[in-house]
Amino acid sequence: MAVVKCAIELRIADVVIDNHGSPMTLSELTTTLGCEPSRLHRIMRFLVHYRIFKEEPVTVDSIGFALTSLSRRLIRHGERSMAALILLESSPVMLAPWHSLSAHVNSWNSPFEAANGKDVWSYAAVNPGHSKLINDAMACDAKVVVSAVIEGCPQVFDGIKSLVDVGGGNGTALSMLVKVFPWIHGINFDLPHVVAVAPKVDSTDTSEVTCSSVSQMQTLFPYEAIPHDEGKVIIVQSVIEDNKDDKLEFVRLMLDMVMMTHTGKGKERTLKQWEYVVSEAGFTRFNIKRINAIQSVIEAYV
Ligand SMILES: C[S@@+](CC[C@H](N)C(=O)[O-])C[C@H]1O[C@@H](n2cnc3c(N)ncnc32)[C@H](O)[C@@H]1O
Repeated sequence: MAVVKCAIELRIADVVIDNHGSPMTLSELTTTLGCEPSRLHRIMRFLVHYRIFKEEPVTVDSIGFALTSLSRRLIRHGERSMAALILLESSPVMLAPWHSLSAHVNSWNSPFEAANGKDVWSYAAVNPGHSKLINDAMACDAKVVVSAVIEGCPQVFDGIKSLVDVGGGNGTALSMLVKVFPWIHGINFDLPHVVAVAPKVDSTDTSEVTCSSVSQMQTLFPYEAIPHDEGKVIIVQSVIEDNKDDKLEFVRLMLDMVMMTHTGKGKERTLKQWEYVVSEAGFTRFNIKRINAIQSVIEAYV
């Protein structure tokens, strides 16, 4: 992870894409990035070995470094970029709790809180630099998953006039949704320090997103505001399947470890655990739709 972080910080993938995606020789990369050539050579050799970049001929007697599907995910503002998420997860603040995971397996304490003195959201509230890392990381994840929701089950939004995104971060998910479903009025709901710096969403004549915040001590019961018969809660989350053939299952299990390390009680849930949560929250029925993503779409009805 540290070498991938290094590649993102050096903007190696961005430099190659600025070269019209054409392979770049070590000497071109060295000049553009201002690096020491033998060190950059060793880093590129490592990244090529892990298929994060690949070698391609530039001329008959010279080889250059080209992008692969993996390095395309490292372009800072690329379409399906994961750069911000990697920068967050490899930050010292997020890495520190992993070193004390073993010390917290016998309790419900949060390793994050033990390492950083506060829970993750309280820490972000007083550390704007870290909060920006979180918001940017959540936005890059939202771009990927919301595209999959729109593509995989657009009917989920049929007939919806008003949509509240609870914990919607900087509003990326809602702004994508109101662009595609412009009859929806979106309300992005998050903590004050997140909403205060969220970019203003461009509104068209018909689509609109407003921002709202809540103090961290307040509890929100979304279902109290849901109109009976026509309202629902849409949950976009992993459903752990214990399916060894599913090629994304390892990511869900990894995210579960991230939840354990970065939150006290957060977890990724199995179908049985979702059934329990949804019924305990007072919903009478729910359905799950699979999409082309790590997450599934759960619709819960009052
Ligand atoms: C894991 S992030 C998800 C962000 C966004 N939904 C996404 O997928 O990109 C959780 C969000 O919940 C917000 N949050 C945490 N506690 C909250 C609370 N008590 N009320 C409202 N939002 C909260 C955080 O600030 C953060 O933006």
